[in-house]
Amino acid sequence: MPFYSDEIIEQVRQSTDIVQLISGFVNLKRKGSNYFGLCPFHNEKTGSFSVSENKQMYYCFGCHATGNVYTFLMKHENMSFVEAIQYLAEKSGIKLPEANESEEAKKARSRRERIYQANTEAAKYFYRALRSAQGELGLDYFKGRKLSDETMQKFGLGYSLQYSDDLTKYLMKNGYSIDELTAAGLSVYDEKYGARDKFYNRVMFPIMNGSGKVIAFGGRVMGEGEPKYLNTAETEIFEKRKNLFGLNLARSSRAKNFILCEGYMDVISLHQAGFDQAMASLGTAFTMDQAMILKRFGRDVLLAYDSDTAGINAALKAISILRSCGLNGRVINMQPYKDPDEFIKNLGAEEYQKRLDKAENGFLFEVRILRKDYDLSDPAQKTAFYNEIAKKLCVFEEEMERENYIEAVSEEYGIPKDALKKQVISLVLKGGVKLPDNVADTTQRPGAQPKSDDNDKYAQRVLLTWLSEEPYKYKGISEFISAEDFTDPIYHRVAERMLRDMEEGPPNPAAIINMFEDADEQQQAAEVFHTKLDAIVTDEEKEKAFRDIVLKVKQERFDHDNKKAEGGLNLEEKLKQKRLMEDLRKRLRV
Ligand code: CTP
Ligand code: MN
Repeated sequence: MPFYSDEIIEQVRQSTDIVQLISGFVNLKRKGSNYFGLCPFHNEKTGSFSVSENKQMYYCFGCHATGNVYTFLMKHENMSFVEAIQYLAEKSGIKLPEANESEEAKKARSRRERIYQANTEAAKYFYRALRSAQGELGLDYFKGRKLSDETMQKFGLGYSLQYSDDLTKYLMKNGYSIDELTAAGLSVYDEKYGARDKFYNRVMFPIMNGSGKVIAFGGRVMGEGEPKYLNTAETEIFEKRKNLFGLNLARSSRAKNFILCEGYMDVISLHQAGFDQAMASLGTAFTMDQAMILKRFGRDVLLAYDSDTAGINAALKAISILRSCGLNGRVINMQPYKDPDEFIKNLGAEEYQKRLDKAENGFLFEVRILRKDYDLSDPAQKTAFYNEIAKKLCVFEEEMERENYIEAVSEEYGIPKDALKKQVISLVLKGGVKLPDNVADTTQRPGAQPKSDDNDKYAQRVLLTWLSEEPYKYKGISEFISAEDFTDPIYHRVAERMLRDMEEGPPNPAAIINMFEDADEQQQAAEVFHTKLDAIVTDEEKEKAFRDIVLKVKQERFDHDNKKAEGGLNLEEKLKQKRLMEDLRKRLRV
């Protein structure tokens, strides 16, 4: 790979303190020699996310996410390795040398960059078109929807002309290839017609990522027509489920909350009315990934979904996703209007602010909707309704929180509080009620879990963790343990570097991880430094455990060699191994 030399990668890493960096994203508290906080990579209520100043690494005891400053930025901020280096170098005022990039890396990087650029160029093109003589239809449409010039400018709104290939032609004239344009989602290609524009004769909404780069578009027909909105399909730079329309603006709002809407126009009219904390998911249901993004900001989330049945169902889903991420969504009542756009046009911003202030607690909203399914004049249905409520109340694991909800619900629906409480407790005790909204598992990153087939590698990992924590122990075993004893290819590379480093001083886990390019490999390498050393009590037991591990690693190495050799090792070699093991045992005084 290295795009930048190992030295510079290491220099940049060393100039950044991981505790400081992560503190910018996660609230950390010192506990002993480490810092702890809520893990940003999975949903949790207790802080199992630890950051080690010594190792310059982070590790989550819950989801096993681990790595150094680079992997943190890559995962948390969705940066590439190179982007992470550049970001940190700039922060620490290190001037990066001219990149000496491998051909392959250059290609991959420049391809992504080209796709970003093509989208930016397209956004400018649509923007100009809206303001050109040919853009009148589009401009009329937006004006008809009462958007001001300022708003149109703020959102970079545009227009795609009636021709079916003028953007494609324009961008090709500017050096973009058909391949790049289809990869960017701007053009479509078929044998018969060649390359044509994906969008034409629509008003255009550029979709930006959190930092304001154009990554996709939504295009609306002016008036009736199908599909009402056409959106960029997923591309290398655009993942629907990980982006929110308007987040780039809403993130710097001074409001204490976010308003989550269903559509582009809702967001835009809210901003125009002064609610600059509005954003929307992108034509798909609200996702876990989006909830985790919002969670980082620590603000309330208010839902401004349509008042119709589809909107209510979408709101119920969003509430449950928010809850599974530890967020409590609230619902804005827009009756008698359908959406924020209509509401504000009719009743104005001030009235809307009042609705924000009165937004309904997500759980109480759920119960209110549930209530519609029951005829409470019928005792049987009434009982069923109460039971359903009791079941729902089981999602609150903390007693105080549950108590508060029991109180609120029983008051609202005239349910005898003690009876409700009793029922909830009996359900909780039975443990039979599965948390209804338990979707949290989908946040688990693939690869974050330790693999199940790694039993035989366990000893190797323990030994490496141990040596990284107590490097002086290496002296006692350096004679007979070498990198070759680590049969797993990744551990092998780690060991090679680590044992070499240890001839001169303590090893440097964070630097070692940098030897790996692939995020998955980095993860595995990082795990090497975080194997839980089983609760070992006395020093004596610890000594024995250490010796056992060394022996195990060695024995497994021999087993591995045996398996690998076709037809097995010959007798002489086997005897040699046996002697070596015996010798080792003696020397370790077991
Ligand atoms: N949407 C989509 N494709 C469609 C319809 C809708 O991607 N064919 C997405 C768009 O992101 C849209 C959102 O779903 O903004 C909500 O849809 P809808 O309520 O129909 O549109 P509005 O945003 O309210 O737009 P308008 O006010 O122009 O009807
Ligand atoms: Mn709508």
